[in-house]
Amino acid sequence: MKVTLGEAGGLARERTPLLGVLVASGELGAKWLPARLVAATRAPIAAKDFTGRELETSLAYEPRAGSSARAAIQRVLLVGLGDRKKIGADTLRRAAAAVVRRARTHKLGSVAIALGEPPIAAEAAGRALGEGALLGGYSFHGQKSEAPPRAVRAATIHVEASGRDRRAFAAGVRAGAVTGAAQAFARDLGNQPANVATPSYLGLQARRLRRGVAMRVRILRRPELERRRFGGLLGVSRGSAEPPLFLELEWRPRSFRKTVCLIGKGLTFDSGGISLKPAQNMEEMKFDMCGGAAVLGAMRAVAELKPKVRVLGLVPCCENMPSGRAIKPGDVVTSFGGISVEVVNTDAEGRLLLADALGRARELKPDYTIDLATLTGACVVALGHRATGLFCGHDELADRLRKAGEEAGERLWPLPLWDDYLDEMKSTVADVKNSGSRFGGAVTAAAFLKKFAGDLVWAHLDIAGTAWDAPRNELYDGGASGVGVRTLLRFIEGVERE
Ligand code: BES
Ligand code: MN
Ligand code: ZN
Repeated sequence: MKVTLGEAGGLARERTPLLGVLVASGELGAKWLPARLVAATRAPIAAKDFTGRELETSLAYEPRAGSSARAAIQRVLLVGLGDRKKIGADTLRRAAAAVVRRARTHKLGSVAIALGEPPIAAEAAGRALGEGALLGGYSFHGQKSEAPPRAVRAATIHVEASGRDRRAFAAGVRAGAVTGAAQAFARDLGNQPANVATPSYLGLQARRLRRGVAMRVRILRRPELERRRFGGLLGVSRGSAEPPLFLELEWRPRSFRKTVCLIGKGLTFDSGGISLKPAQNMEEMKFDMCGGAAVLGAMRAVAELKPKVRVLGLVPCCENMPSGRAIKPGDVVTSFGGISVEVVNTDAEGRLLLADALGRARELKPDYTIDLATLTGACVVALGHRATGLFCGHDELADRLRKAGEEAGERLWPLPLWDDYLDEMKSTVADVKNSGSRFGGAVTAAAFLKKFAGDLVWAHLDIAGTAWDAPRNELYDGGASGVGVRTLLRFIEGVERE
């Protein structure tokens, strides 16, 4: 979808099959609306069918006296924003998505969205609308044989702003559209079945992000993984016919001061391995690469937004399958960097991939390292589907990530990182076991990772609850959610301003 900012005063000349009019409660007779649109919105407002409550919607039509001529604006969708003083970015994001969704329902190829005076900072408002438009237009058609429904291909946004505010709003719209498209890309990767989205497929998608010298993509294959002793990734992938890959992406702008390293779990299917999972819902384990998808999505946006920050993306990719060659409970692997692990449960495989990636990150000496992984069912038990678990021993990094998440409309909630949780993971034959007791599983997993993160300034995001099956709203109607992309991009922007 192409999202553009309409020219100043262009609303009066707009021709569109659907115009979304975003209005705060108490501002229903919006003075900035052209007279004929005020006429169109009069009926639902007079009937009190529409009061401007947050995300309330009402469809209206321009009154016409028997003429067969097409109205320039064929439909008006009123979308409430609630009390102006309480409007946040999330309200705007969802309001824009509601407009595009309605266009999809009516199979319309384009929409316009009118906001009036931005109720929050112009840049943030533009970004929220850009993101919302893209996300509201998202659908995944998969391999269905019927033709896909008509997509909304263009959205024009109108705003009452001039000068600096208008320029800031325009920059926001652009960043929002790039971000939304990157999140849609991450969602596509997640939604593809595991027989399509194999490790090689993720490698191919990564390679397509290559852009000259600024975005480099390196793919480490088995011989190199063996030579450099990526023992975790090699161990987990043993049972699978799909070859493992370790993706290394690097965005290196001409000038930068800080380096951010993003790590994503790219487990394209998690059967559990020899510690096989129950059949019930096992199909959901195609989503076990959503951390990797978020990293690839963020890297794609980085290549377009071109921040003056060096950004590394590390994505270990493989399948976890049982077979005669598979890793067995009790086997010992040595992760990249030399720490040995007794694999007592082959279903605790994500941490073995992350152990390698954290070891590799340590070599690269980034200023900040953030990993995203659908790591534990226990995190879903702890936080449900509405918040990502945040584990971080550096208070400043934790605060900044939470704030980035808040602005991005993605919730992160802190869980502890305490070393003594490792006591139950002591091994008699290796440095550590990969699994402890049934209890506190999200916390023991994080404590395990901390051992490999060493002196990195590092945060771990457990997205097991938020990567799919999140609560449905205007922005999301099932499947992979693309969680993490927006937060990572906000965070990187903050680092750029440091
Ligand atoms: N990919 C799963 C975690 C998961 C489970 C995510 C359910 C979303 C929903 C991970 O590899 C896993 O299997 N973790 C185990 C760890 C345990 C064996 C220590 C778990 O959470 O049960
Ligand atoms: Mn597993
Ligand atoms: Zn897994």
